[in-house]
Amino acid sequence: MKNKKKIFAVFICMLLVLTGFGKSYAKGETSSVVNDGVIDLGTSADFPPYEYYEGDKIVGIDVDIMAAISEYLGYEVKFHDMEFNNIIASIESNKLDGGMSGFTVTEERKKSVNFTEPYAKSEQRVLLKKDSEIKTLDDIRGKTIGTQLGTTGDMFARDDFGEENVQAFSKYSDAVLALQNGKLDCIILDDQTAVKFADANADLTLLDAPYAEEDYAIAVNKGNEALLNDFNEAIKALKADGTIDTIIAKYTQSDEEEGKQYSGIIGKIQNNLINGKNYTYLLEGLKTTIIVTIFALIIGLVLGILIAIIRTSAKELDPSLKSAKGFFLKFIDKLAGLFVTIIRGTPTTIQLLILFNVFLVNLDNLRLVAIIAFGLNSAAYMSELFRGGLQAVDKGEKEAARSLGLSYWQTLKKVVLPQGFKFSLPALGNEVITLFKETSISGFIGLVDLTRGASIIISKTFQAAIPYFAAALIYLVIVLVLEQIFKKLERNYDYA
Ligand code: ARG
Repeated sequence: MKNKKKIFAVFICMLLVLTGFGKSYAKGETSSVVNDGVIDLGTSADFPPYEYYEGDKIVGIDVDIMAAISEYLGYEVKFHDMEFNNIIASIESNKLDGGMSGFTVTEERKKSVNFTEPYAKSEQRVLLKKDSEIKTLDDIRGKTIGTQLGTTGDMFARDDFGEENVQAFSKYSDAVLALQNGKLDCIILDDQTAVKFADANADLTLLDAPYAEEDYAIAVNKGNEALLNDFNEAIKALKADGTIDTIIAKYTQSDEEEGKQYSGIIGKIQNNLINGKNYTYLLEGLKTTIIVTIFALIIGLVLGILIAIIRTSAKELDPSLKSAKGFFLKFIDKLAGLFVTIIRGTPTTIQLLILFNVFLVNLDNLRLVAIIAFGLNSAAYMSELFRGGLQAVDKGEKEAARSLGLSYWQTLKKVVLPQGFKFSLPALGNEVITLFKETSISGFIGLVDLTRGASIIISKTFQAAIPYFAAALIYLVIVLVLEQIFKKLERNYDYA
């Protein structure tokens, strides 16, 4: 018993250390609406020249303007890269103090957040291939239009060209790739970003879109009027002394290094993986993927076995509801059944998002959120496969053990569990591999896993092939290794 407690304590400590407990949101142990000393801002760093990656740093007009604002106000600010479409919701649920992401001021958004005074202007453009048959706006009708989910461009496209013609992406980089690969006919997006994409890709060009000028402003949590006022004061001062104009000019002058095309496979590998040490995104992401998988697996195994035992014993013992014990066993059996049904009946992505946005709002450690989400998810699947394993154990053996005088629980421990586990092994191998690959949706909550690492590289280079292939190769190699391990395990069990 003591030993088990020790193992448990060590597990918890490892979990805290490896998930980087407490260091995720700068100082914040709790999410920070007001008062933890750091202003947490959401952004979607796929939007040059406003926010994009250079090396492992987010840079751009928004970042520089915010640096000037925070210097003026004496605040500490931290940007959090996430899906554009999640930023406003995260502000509303108090995970963030605000958002700065080239946000257009709209009436709809004003219901959820406050906006500062505008600091920049933009309009919508149409990005398309140079050899496209679309020559005028009219030609767009009936064609497939790409957008970023939740943006003003997305709204315009749906309203004017019909929902059925719009494909929304969570990151612009993915939309640009789809355009280059012929999956989209055009993309509707903000002017300066469109210009950057066209500059960086020799095969792309621009049309004007018929949408009026937009104002960019910072979104601020409705619960924080003081911050809104401070930001407004700073913006006013920085506009007056020309700081904001200088920053915008610096990023919108065309620079020659950009647009330089790398050709040939070697050039592409160089550009995508070597330059700016881009491969570190993959390595860091892989580390996160592995940590999340291992701890989720542990949770899944422990909880899964527990649930399987509860459910098989409730069935086999069929205790009377009159005894307190029997009632309890049946009750948790039903509860476990419900848990399995809910987890299996809903998409993992939604489970992850619900945990992140609803139940674990105050947990700033993204790895821990992912571990809990994937752990619970895999527990449900594992419990079913263990249940199958336990039930496959020969009835005669159980009866023999019982007639030798072993109690139900002794039989379970000595006879049923070891065999049941062995029967479950092949399916367990599959489940581990599924879990490992499923963590690739972690990017939805802003966690940089292997897949998200590849996306970040693409948001810098606008070339999909190499980063995605590299990530796929890494997944594949690890899956092959896992398969070998499970084959070995199965063989060992066969001898035993
Ligand atoms: N201005 C547009 C909007 O507010 C697009 C902003 C997209 N920003 C981004 N960082 N991806 O909807």
